[in-house]
Amino acid sequence: MSTIAEVKQRLDILELVGEYVALQKAGRNYKGLCPFHSEKDPSFFVFPAQQSWHCFGACATGGDIFSFVMKKEGVEFGEALRLLAQRAGIALGPLEARDRARDEKRERLFQINEAAAEYYNHLLVSTQAGGAARDYLSRRKIVPETIKAFRLGFSPEGWETIKSYLRKRGYAERELVEAGLIIEKEGGGSYDRFRNRLMFPISDVQGRVTGFGARALDDSLPKYTNSPQTLVFDKSSCLYGVDKARDAIRRGDAAIIVEGYTDVITAHQNGWRNVIGEMGTALTEKQVASIRRLTSNVTLALDADLAGEEATMRGKAILACSNAEAKVIPLPPGKDPDEVIREDPALWQKLTEQAMPIMDFAFQSVLSKVDVNRARDKSLALQKLLPSIQEIGDPTQRFHYVERLARALRIKTGDIEVALRKLKTAEKKPQHGKPTEGSRPARRFVSSPVEEYCLALLLQHPELRALTGELSAQHFECTENREVFEKWQCSGETHDLETELDRSLLEHLYYLVNRAFPPSIRDSETTRRLTLADCILRLQERLSRRLETEKEATLGLEREKGGLSSELSKLREQGIAPGQQLQDIFVKRGKKPWVQ
Ligand code: UTP
Ligand code: MN
Repeated sequence: MSTIAEVKQRLDILELVGEYVALQKAGRNYKGLCPFHSEKDPSFFVFPAQQSWHCFGACATGGDIFSFVMKKEGVEFGEALRLLAQRAGIALGPLEARDRARDEKRERLFQINEAAAEYYNHLLVSTQAGGAARDYLSRRKIVPETIKAFRLGFSPEGWETIKSYLRKRGYAERELVEAGLIIEKEGGGSYDRFRNRLMFPISDVQGRVTGFGARALDDSLPKYTNSPQTLVFDKSSCLYGVDKARDAIRRGDAAIIVEGYTDVITAHQNGWRNVIGEMGTALTEKQVASIRRLTSNVTLALDADLAGEEATMRGKAILACSNAEAKVIPLPPGKDPDEVIREDPALWQKLTEQAMPIMDFAFQSVLSKVDVNRARDKSLALQKLLPSIQEIGDPTQRFHYVERLARALRIKTGDIEVALRKLKTAEKKPQHGKPTEGSRPARRFVSSPVEEYCLALLLQHPELRALTGELSAQHFECTENREVFEKWQCSGETHDLETELDRSLLEHLYYLVNRAFPPSIRDSETTRRLTLADCILRLQERLSRRLETEKEATLGLEREKGGLSSELSKLREQGIAPGQQLQDIFVKRGKKPWVQ
């Protein structure tokens, strides 16, 4: 469970608010003097069943425990979370607790990396020591403009080149160790991590240098060394070249994923600017999450010899996040995209056009290697394909492949379904304790599915923004959703949210950005629009019901005080009356327009 959900589950709003406000029972609910404005008669209510509060007086607002603490203490969401987590006895990670110090440190590491990239590039392009590396690049047909654009560099032979350069620039030895640029010796002292290597600065989507890949100039091993894990470098979430490919990916709404640094560089040099590198390992969910912020059309270019085995394995994260829509380009045996593009750009063009759905590809390569008349081969094929089929989130698509497999192996679909269920329970068992990397936080009743569905739609389909005129922050009762919605309303693009949102909300943001939708939603804009309209309507109806409950709860008060019904109807006018736009859509669908 996410920390946010856990806090909600453990704390009771009545107890919390009771510490600030003298509450008296009013039916099933409680009332008191509003802690946010001064008043003589109580217009502040707590609704234990909904775990919510509302002020019907001057504030005319309400929310959950998070919004209460934010308003009362005048703090941001992150700080409210910290306070409430403390109260609930939930230890926040040291990262959340020491946010500010960490931000400063990260900033410093970015600066160090920037200076290092600049210096390595200088050593490559304008020193004698860089000569051999320049020759190497020209043998590989990498031109000066590309060297400049990708800021390639060279780390010389010496043990203390980058160290002494950066020490002179005022960075402490400790910081250089933390940046991963130098390595501490056991007996004291330190030396440069990268020596006599071609340097590939690795950047995040905003173009900040997070770390380096470094290639040997000959056949010595290891061929590449990379930066170690640092505060700003996490290999499992890097996508090489993403800062340069970002705009092209958005423009063309498609990304091609290759394995290596040189594949990316050669692709870009030849005009394929939507290509990014997965850093030589199977795609992780974090990588897929960043790609999906740019596009949902993903094509993997894989080496043909390995592709069969790996399509299923490499694509697992993709299948989990985006169903079976990802495609595969099978490359000629033994060639990587760098070689194909350099030798035969027309072939590369043709291959990209022939990309096939990743599941079809997996089927083809597994089934071509077995004899379906042999029992042993049947179960082998089943074993290989089941895990991928299981990853497909959309039930219709999953069933499509279950049927296909049944036909191919001449077994019953029911048997495959049974095997799938077995696989599922077998996978669940060993997973206790720490959640697996990139796994989603478990959600229970502490979340609101309709709010999340609506937000995920908006985050993943920017064109829907135009339809949200009637949606307001008060439609979101869960503060984590409200926060995301408010920031989304102000920011132009989904990716800006990542920098603007409090870090404590990023886990939630990633969850929303990765929420899988059925193909009907992804493929049809009309369906998306209708689904969103439906969501908004449900949120409006819910708000209306809530206000109704709250109104009933406050009827007694109204009699005492009068004037409250006018407050309520004002509220209603602001927030819940659906406008013409939505009504029109519903008339077109043959549904009764929603009337108050
Ligand atoms: P490759 O061995 O295919 O290298 O590894 P490459 O990218 O084609 O490089 P060239 O063309 O021989 O120069 C693919 C990717 O796997 C990672 C790197 O990201 C590399 O680009 N890798 C490979 C490592 O991190 N370490 C290694 O030792 C090898
Ligand atoms: Mn290569």
